[in-house]
Amino acid sequence: MNTTAKLELDGNTYELPVVIGSENEKAVDISKLRDQTGCITLDEGCGNTGSCRSSITFIDGDRGILRYRGIPIEELAERSTFVEVAYLLIMGKLPTETELRQFSQLLTKNEMIHEDLKYHFEGFPPNAHPMAILSSMINATSCFYPELLKSEPTEPFVIQVARLLSQVRTIAAFAYRKSRGLPIIYPKPHYRYTANFLHMMFSEPYQDFELEPAAINALELIFLLHADHEQNCSTSTVRMVASSRANLFASVASGVCALWGPLHGGANQAVIEMLEQIHREGDDGSKFIAAAKDKKSGKRLMGFGHRVYKNYDPRAKIIKRRCDEVLDRLDIEDPLLEIAKHLEEVALKDSYFIERKLYPNVDFYSGIIMRAIGIPVEMFPVIFAIGRTPGWIANFREVREGEGGRIYRPRQIYTGETLRPYVPLKERR
Ligand code: ACO
Repeated sequence: MNTTAKLELDGNTYELPVVIGSENEKAVDISKLRDQTGCITLDEGCGNTGSCRSSITFIDGDRGILRYRGIPIEELAERSTFVEVAYLLIMGKLPTETELRQFSQLLTKNEMIHEDLKYHFEGFPPNAHPMAILSSMINATSCFYPELLKSEPTEPFVIQVARLLSQVRTIAAFAYRKSRGLPIIYPKPHYRYTANFLHMMFSEPYQDFELEPAAINALELIFLLHADHEQNCSTSTVRMVASSRANLFASVASGVCALWGPLHGGANQAVIEMLEQIHREGDDGSKFIAAAKDKKSGKRLMGFGHRVYKNYDPRAKIIKRRCDEVLDRLDIEDPLLEIAKHLEEVALKDSYFIERKLYPNVDFYSGIIMRAIGIPVEMFPVIFAIGRTPGWIANFREVREGEGGRIYRPRQIYTGETLRPYVPLKERR
C-alpha cells in the first residue's frame, strides 16, 4: 500500500501522506495542502472528509458493522448495560466489578439537579418542546458548577461525567413533566439508571409507576444502541464546540440542538408521524413510497437511508428483532408495526431504494418500541439524546485530551459579490 498520494495541479506534482487506520481505513492527509498549493478541498456535507482521528467507535457502513471500542454492538446489546457501555465509551475499556460499582454509585450521588434549577423550568411556556428545554437546561446546569468554567478544572473529569450523565436523565424527565403541566418527580437512589428515568417520567406524587421489566429492558436497549455513532452531525457539533474550550455541559447542549433536526435525532418522531398518517389515510404505504421517490413532493421515507450505512443498519436489525417480543410482553398490538414491516418489504424490493442503497436505519423501528413503553413522540429525540450522551462525552474528552488541540475552523469557497462600494441609503434603488 502506498503511503503517499500524488496530486497534480497547475503542472506541479505534490506528495500527500496517506494515513491508515487500525481497521485499514485510508485517508489522504491534506493538512499541509493549502500551504503547499494555495488550494483547499471542497466537500459539501463532509461526505468524504475525515475530521479527526478517533479510537472510540468503528463503523463499516458497507458491511453493516458497528463496534464501540472494538466490541461488536450485537454482543453489547446482548450482554451489557447502558451504564457499562457509557463507561466503556468514555474510559476506553470495560470496567472491573469495582469500577462499575463505583461509577454507578457516582451516578446515583449526582442524580439530583440543583434545587434552584427547578425555577428555570417555570420560564418555559406550556407545551414547550422538551428538546428545547433539555438543551437550555443542560447549558444552565453549568452555571451551578463554577469549577466547570475554570480554564483548567481541578475536579476529576469522572465527577463531571457522572453529573452530566446522571442529570441529563433527570432534566429530560423534568422537561417532560413540565411540558405536560405535571408535578416533578424526584429520582429514587435504589433504582438503576433506566428504571429511575421511567419512575421520574411516569410516577405520580401519590402513586409509584409500576415498573415493567420488559419496558425497562427495551428502553435500556434503545439507550445502549444510541450511545455513540462516530462523527455524526451532533457529535461533530460537540467536538467543534469542545475545540473552542467551551465546557462539557455547553458542548453537549450544542449536541442536543444538532440532534433535534428531523434528518438526525428528530427522525424517530418523524417516522411515527409518517406511519400514523399512512394508517389514518388507510394507505398500505404505496402512496407514501411513491411520494418519497418523487423529489418534488418534498417527502422522504423517514427512518430510511443513512450517510454511512449502505447496508442494513445493525442497530435497526437488533431493534426490529426486539419489536415483536416487547409488544408481546407488554400485551400491545400496534397496527403501525405491521405498516412499518410492509413499508420495509416494499421499499427493499423497489429499484429506487435498491439503487441508492437505502435501508432502514435505527429510527425506523425504535419509535414503535418507545410508543409501546408509553413514551410520547415529542420525547423520542430526548431519549436519543440521553442515549447519545456517553458518546458525546467520550468525543469531548478525545478533543480535549488529544494532541495538538487546534480549534475546528473549516474554510470555504466564497461565491458572493466581488469588491463593490458602499451605496448611501438615499442613492439605493
Ligand atoms: N427517502 C427517499 N429518498 C431518499 C431518502 C429517503 N429516506 N434518503 C435518501 N434519499 C435519496 C436522496 O433523495 C438522494 O437521491 P438522488 O441521488 O436521486 O438525489 C439519494 O437518496 C442520496 O441521499 P442523500 O440525501 O444524498 O443522502 P445523505 O447521506 O445526505 O442523507 C439521510 C442521509 C439524511 C439520513 C437521508 O437518507 C434521509 O433524509 N433519511 C430520512 C431521515 C432519517 O431517517 N434520518 C435518520 C438518520 S439516522 C440517525 O440520525 C440516527
